[in-house]
Amino acid sequence: MDRTVHRQHKPEPRTLIEPKDPAIASTASDISAPIALIDEELARHIDAAGLGGDLSVGLHEAMRYAVLGGGKRFRPLLVWHACATVGGDPNICLPAAAAIEYIHAFSLVHDDLPAMDDDDLRRGKPTLHIHTSEAMAILAGDALLNLAFAATTRVNIDPSLTIRLVQELTSGCAGMISGQIFDSLPDADPAIDDRKRLERIHRNKTGALIRASCRIGAICGGASDESLAALTTYADDIGLMFQAVDDLLDVEQATEHAGKRTGKDAEAGKLTYPGLLGVEGTKAEIERLRTEAVATVESLGPKSAPLVTIANLIATRDR
Ligand code: IPE
Ligand code: IPE
Ligand code: MG
Ligand code: MG
Ligand code: MG
Repeated sequence: MDRTVHRQHKPEPRTLIEPKDPAIASTASDISAPIALIDEELARHIDAAGLGGDLSVGLHEAMRYAVLGGGKRFRPLLVWHACATVGGDPNICLPAAAAIEYIHAFSLVHDDLPAMDDDDLRRGKPTLHIHTSEAMAILAGDALLNLAFAATTRVNIDPSLTIRLVQELTSGCAGMISGQIFDSLPDADPAIDDRKRLERIHRNKTGALIRASCRIGAICGGASDESLAALTTYADDIGLMFQAVDDLLDVEQATEHAGKRTGKDAEAGKLTYPGLLGVEGTKAEIERLRTEAVATVESLGPKSAPLVTIANLIATRDR
């Protein structure tokens, strides 16, 4: 395989966020503007690792496939806009925004494996283990986790803040892994009430990385303790909401539109929002979380407008 071929290639086209609500559409293009920069940053660290040293060519290809072929990029956008909301220069946090997306991509690659959700479609394409092999998918996930920490250390800020970024990434990642256990191996932990268990799954498997995204952006931007606390509350609401919407899409959306197999959660015996609260109950909970998230982040002033839009987009997304 020729390593040089990647140098000439831009990242593949990404999935755009397409809001259905015209009121949200008018502001959504502004919040999506950094996606092009984020995609370049994502390719940059993968290619620097893949082209510069002894990294396996096959592994480099697999990492590119997992990260660059689509994805809505909500998490790196949260890093960017959290930084801007507290008055920082979001260009500084690009390597950390990429780091979060590497962890997210790794979580998806492993989530799709036969031992986990056993899925063959992701972002409208064959999952990585179908495209390559199970062994390669496991190892590409490992490599993306590693790359995430390497990228974080490249944020150009005071080293004491870099340590905080690494701590945030570590706890986001640890939460995601525990959440996957709560979701997939319910017998590994003492039994608790279903409603509590549902929140514990979602706050961890999806919420933890979203919390890390907002906190990392805020820390890069030099947030005060007060702003960091408000952004953390906002993140916890939209994190829970993100997975409640994902559960709803599994029930309501067509596979072709979602780009991943839907209608699978109930069959797999997953504990989900629609499974426990019904579709209407889930929609009410999404609205409650959206309202709370927006009220919290608006307390940070007019610069928080993009984060308000993101909360609205997450609540109303259909893929
Ligand atoms: C899917 O996340 C997995 C969940 C945590 C629900 P996204 O819906 O953000 O997936 P991509 O990155 O856009 O493909
Ligand atoms: C996955 O949740 C959350 C992760 C940590 C990857 P799901 O299993 O519901 O995500 P999808 O529906 O496969 O994207
Ligand atoms: Mg899963
Ligand atoms: Mg899954
Ligand atoms: Mg799902």
